[in-house]
Amino acid sequence: MTANVEFEAVDTNSEIGLLSVPRHVAIIMDGNGRWALRRGLPRTEGHRRGVKTLREAVEHAQKRGVSYLTLFSFSSENWARPQQEVSFLLALLRRFVCDDIKDLIRNNVKVRVIGSRENLDKSMLTLLDDAERETAHCTGLVLVIAFNYGARDEFVRAARQLAERVEAGELRAAEIGEDDVSTCLDTRDIPDPDLIVRTGGEQRLSNFLLWQAAYAEFYFAPTPWPEFGPDAFDDALLAFSNRERRYGGVSSDAAGT
Ligand code: IPE
Ligand code: IPE
Ligand code: MG
Repeated sequence: MTANVEFEAVDTNSEIGLLSVPRHVAIIMDGNGRWALRRGLPRTEGHRRGVKTLREAVEHAQKRGVSYLTLFSFSSENWARPQQEVSFLLALLRRFVCDDIKDLIRNNVKVRVIGSRENLDKSMLTLLDDAERETAHCTGLVLVIAFNYGARDEFVRAARQLAERVEAGELRAAEIGEDDVSTCLDTRDIPDPDLIVRTGGEQRLSNFLLWQAAYAEFYFAPTPWPEFGPDAFDDALLAFSNRERRYGGVSSDAAGT
């Protein structure tokens, strides 16, 4: 099954002119509320429609041969929304995990959840742990769900872990390096995103993967998330494949001059 998906990915990618595929795509799924309000619908209807786009995005990432897909589903700041909207978003996530877990396993998708587990409802914690455990054996796409996630919060938790190791005498402060920080982040075993997409027209990170985004390529789409289908996803992938990543060096064309 995995082999077939990979073969198909290589085949159709060249048909649309995709020269390289990002190993890790991270998406800020934004614009649900505005999409709904423009149609005279409640904001929650935008979130409901967003789940359909989410399923399509998982399928499309697999088709294109992306290895890691991170989806920002709920930020540590989203608790500030009206209680009714927060409850709706939490219920949607629960329903997605319950309804889709079998399909995800069938499609060899491994689920990882990043974000703070502190102060979460016990039943939500169990649900997230179960989703990770039940898909732990899968070897295809890694679907990273950023839930109750905020990059600054993640960094504070990492700083505390490092400080505890210093206090315990396991680590000297002067020896702390980038790898020590990286391994204390929620993303410790996940490569940095190559491409960060934000839908919905805003051009900001909103506290998403600040450390990990150091050398990511950015793609901002005006399309609201409920309308961000496979063709829009391909536009983002095509834009990525035309970028030149230099990591502080010089262009390979200029290297000899
Ligand atoms: C993104 O859509 C979904 C979440 C933040 C959970 P929004 O709800 O932020 O939609 P807009 O940005 O208000 O249109
Ligand atoms: C970012 O979107 C969070 C998610 C998509 C889950 P927001 O809608 O919360 O971000 P701001 O408030 O526009 O910065
Ligand atoms: Mg928003």
